[in-house]
Amino acid sequence: MSTAYRPRTTDPAGGRYADGLLSHGRAGEYERLLLLEQVCDPGTIRVLESLPMKRDWHCAEVGAGTGGVARWLAERCPHGQVTATDLDTRFLDSMVRPGHLRVSQQDVTTTDFPPGSLDLVHARAVLTHLPAPEQVVRRMANWLKPGGWLVIEDPTYLPAGASPYPDFAALLAACEELLARTQGTDNSWARRIPAAMADSGLTDLAMAGELSVCGRDETEDRYWRQCFARATPALLESGLMTASRIQRALAHLDRPEFSDVAWMMISCSARRPPR
Ligand SMILES: C[S@@+](CC[C@H](N)C(=O)[O-])C[C@H]1O[C@@H](n2cnc3c(N)ncnc32)[C@H](O)[C@@H]1O
Repeated sequence: MSTAYRPRTTDPAGGRYADGLLSHGRAGEYERLLLLEQVCDPGTIRVLESLPMKRDWHCAEVGAGTGGVARWLAERCPHGQVTATDLDTRFLDSMVRPGHLRVSQQDVTTTDFPPGSLDLVHARAVLTHLPAPEQVVRRMANWLKPGGWLVIEDPTYLPAGASPYPDFAALLAACEELLARTQGTDNSWARRIPAAMADSGLTDLAMAGELSVCGRDETEDRYWRQCFARATPALLESGLMTASRIQRALAHLDRPEFSDVAWMMISCSARRPPR
């Protein structure tokens, strides 16, 4: 396949997360999401700590995955209430949790919290997979109390095909394409978050970016190896990559001199204007 960057193809049947490549039913998905937490939680916590959090806040962690951020919120808001939601709660149901952290199976595209009921709504690596993320931002903004905060974090490639390592560039670009085709993932969404927040009436926007780099950190490399291993059968079947090219791309991860940006996690926070 060409290494030239190609924007995602539009898939009108997007948003098929539950049956897609990243479905919770896939072998190894629990471990992959735990690694994602290890990679991303420090950056998320930095962003959340920049907010004027109070111990009695009511929070929603949307698309909570394995629940690391929800548990952190519950620690920070011991006199409040934290709701961890997910389309598929199998990784949340058995987690050890305090009484004020509840788990709720919800599809964020169809289920609402009461308007004006929450101090904080957070979602990481969720909206990028949804077919109409702007609409979801509007729904979430509506759940906020006056003065309440919405924090949305999503990854973007920089772009994938711009990597100076042609085989690695091809692998990243092929994974991006595969996710777009099979479940409607849009890696260009992250750049639209501030506009979506402003259109939803939110103010006081702040943005931060956190790089995920391959070749420098054992945990990040384990995370990326898991992602590439998951994608390999579908990449081969779709013809997006050959086995030998995948092998050449992965060989970079064993070279001490290799480092390359895999994505940037863009974090945006904004709040509903106080009354
Ligand atoms: C890539 S994982 C990220 C998990 C977690 N937010 C993290 O960053 O560690 C995406 C999560 O969003 C959930 N999800 C996907 N579509 C959803 C929807 N429509 N409503 C609620 N959750 C959804 C998935 O089940 C999955 O747990």
